[in-house]
Amino acid sequence: MLDRMAAALAGLRDADQYRSLINPSGIALSSNDYLGLASHPRLKEIVSQAAMEDARVASTGSRLLTGNHERWEQLEVEFARFARAEAALYFPSGYLANVGLLSSILKPQDTVFSDAANHASLIDGIRLSGARRVIFPHLDLDYLEEALRGASGQGERIIVVESIFSMEGDRAPLRDLAALCGRFDAYLIIDEAHATGVETAHERSGCVLARVHTCGKAMASMGAFVVGSQTLREFLVNHARPFIFSTALPPYCAAHVRESLRLVIEAETQRTRLWELSKYLRARFRDAGMNIGASESHIIPLIVGSNQNALRHAGALSAAGFAIRAIRPPTVPAGSARLRFSVNANLSTLDLDRVLDVVSAI
Ligand SMILES: Cc1ncc(COP(=O)(O)O)c(C=O)c1O
Repeated sequence: MLDRMAAALAGLRDADQYRSLINPSGIALSSNDYLGLASHPRLKEIVSQAAMEDARVASTGSRLLTGNHERWEQLEVEFARFARAEAALYFPSGYLANVGLLSSILKPQDTVFSDAANHASLIDGIRLSGARRVIFPHLDLDYLEEALRGASGQGERIIVVESIFSMEGDRAPLRDLAALCGRFDAYLIIDEAHATGVETAHERSGCVLARVHTCGKAMASMGAFVVGSQTLREFLVNHARPFIFSTALPPYCAAHVRESLRLVIEAETQRTRLWELSKYLRARFRDAGMNIGASESHIIPLIVGSNQNALRHAGALSAAGFAIRAIRPPTVPAGSARLRFSVNANLSTLDLDRVLDVVSAI
């Protein structure tokens, strides 16, 4: 077994796909702390205060056994209000929320229409469910429409997308997708990981069965909420295996997420700044003739093709004092290795100008 593992690792090295852990240092260019709230003093204060107040700092069990706490239930009510949904259920990570949601609500007779750029957690949840899968080319609604038309069988039809795609920075046309759902009697599931806190949460139309809001990105905390109807929440409590069979996070984490939610609600200035900086960087890249795909958000992929090229760009930027890593297959399709710039509200246009200088020099 170990020889087999060593051979696989050697293969990754040969393909410039070997990954290793580093402690990032320098000016953050790939952090998901979009609003720059991760070191906010109020969060630190709240976490220590809650840890001191609570009788215990461990949750001691699954939410269904000894791990529940009123802090979690209060938080779920508040988050549902924020997300303009009837109910919310918290999972210890976005990965677990997607896997728990999709693996429990989909049945083998259902057909799932999944965008080709969907996050691994969505893919894994769909795979675990055993439902029939149609992977449609990224945002190709004509293809999707044909596939919906051709889908037969007894089960339900469910379309799964991200509202802002994590590696492309483009947006799913949610209105058009809702219209397709209406025409083909389908449901929509939306992963809002990269929109949560950055954009106002909208009440979604009737065909939207569930939305997943992660808290480890703009919300500067951890975990994720699945939001939807009360029935969905109760179903997940009873069927979502990552929820049922996993130890709950400690209650002070609920205090952290709650304070993060408050900060996010107040962070209008940071949201505006994030929007302006992102627009600036997108324009500078495009003016310089660089390929940033169809990005329309704070996630800006500089697509450079080969793994080697991506590593070269990341190396040059890190030598210039920036924290950024190359994104390579299998995270993105082969031949589309990239630097994924995620803008955050703490950057300045001067920082972004320097980025342009370094990249242009290459
Ligand atoms: C689109 C998307 N969904 C889900 C997740 C998983 O969230 P978490 O990091 O909280 O597990 C991520 C995280 O990277 C993501 O980008």
